[in-house]
Amino acid sequence: MIELKNVTKKYHDITALKNFTLQIPKGVLLVLLGPSGCGKSTVIKLINHLIEPTSGEIYINNKNINEMNLINLRRSIGYVIQSIGLFPHYNVYENIIIVPRLLKWSKKDIDHRVDFLLDLVGLNRNYKNKFPFELSGGEGQRVGVARALAADPPILLMDEPFGSVDPLNRERLQKEFYKIQRELKKTVLFVTHDVEEAIRLADNIAVMKPGELASLGSPWDFVTDHREEYVKEFLGGEYALKLLTRFMVQDIMEQKNIKNKEYTRGRVLQVKKENTVSSALALMISKGIDFLEVVDEQEEIVGSITFEDILKNVFRGTRK
Ligand SMILES: Nc1ncnc2c1ncn2[C@@H]1O[C@H](COP(=O)(O)OP(=O)(O)OP(=O)(O)O)[C@@H](O)[C@H]1O
Ligand SMILES: [Mg+2]
Repeated sequence: MIELKNVTKKYHDITALKNFTLQIPKGVLLVLLGPSGCGKSTVIKLINHLIEPTSGEIYINNKNINEMNLINLRRSIGYVIQSIGLFPHYNVYENIIIVPRLLKWSKKDIDHRVDFLLDLVGLNRNYKNKFPFELSGGEGQRVGVARALAADPPILLMDEPFGSVDPLNRERLQKEFYKIQRELKKTVLFVTHDVEEAIRLADNIAVMKPGELASLGSPWDFVTDHREEYVKEFLGGEYALKLLTRFMVQDIMEQKNIKNKEYTRGRVLQVKKENTVSSALALMISKGIDFLEVVDEQEEIVGSITFEDILKNVFRGTRK
């Protein structure tokens, strides 16, 4: 568990954080969401002990980080730096293996891990010998993510890790990361100012306003709760629609229920079970129907999805 208690951080006359309190329980992915300059990176740097708070305390697993050995602290944390921060004189391979090498992993284990990580972040394995100046911004960022995951640390601090990655690869990385997180249950603080990214990944979302926590809740809480005007405005009027990108059709479909064919007034349209619920809804809207058949990879019908299923399963709280 990570805990900040009444943390204030001043840079000369600027108060970047004011009495900031936040808990990230073990195994939870918390997204810190807020506008530029509100103090998100400051929170991450404080936890990693790169900077000292002006006042207040920070605990990891109930231990004050001031009392922890700095090297052990940093080894237990995978950190993706906002500005990528690769070592320019190391190639991709050497950048990724910094912590495994410190931990004296065998060459075989390290090589195996690097291949796994390059595949995971969608970079060709022959990028190993490239130097950071030979990479695009988004490629460098993916090496940064691979480096943070390298030694499988229990805690991840990720500061806009996919910020410069193109939309297609970004979505792929979000999906992969979501899958890994479901399996490995790391304690993650993930910073972004992208509402959709927050919805896709978060167990909990902490919305910040300058220097302060504005609101904390699950992605669902923000649909119905009456939040202060600032939070509503920041999350935007399409928040509920964006929530649909979190689900795949297979998460909420009715299995093998195709009795409602009359809903379609003629031709029955199909959607793939791995598509997002938002794309299913878009298809319904564009065709003026509220029922779709769901098919698997072999185009076999495996169920159905209706507008009512979407309302019932996403917005009426049954999926909390
Ligand atoms: N080293 C520093 N010296 C002085 N002021 C700083 C320093 N680092 C950050 N600040 C200020 O503290 C505030 C919070 O900065 P921080 O980097 O935490 O914002 P952020 O939420 O991460 O923003 P962004 O989304 O743009 O990355 C800003 O007003 C920034 O100008
Ligand atoms: Mg920042």
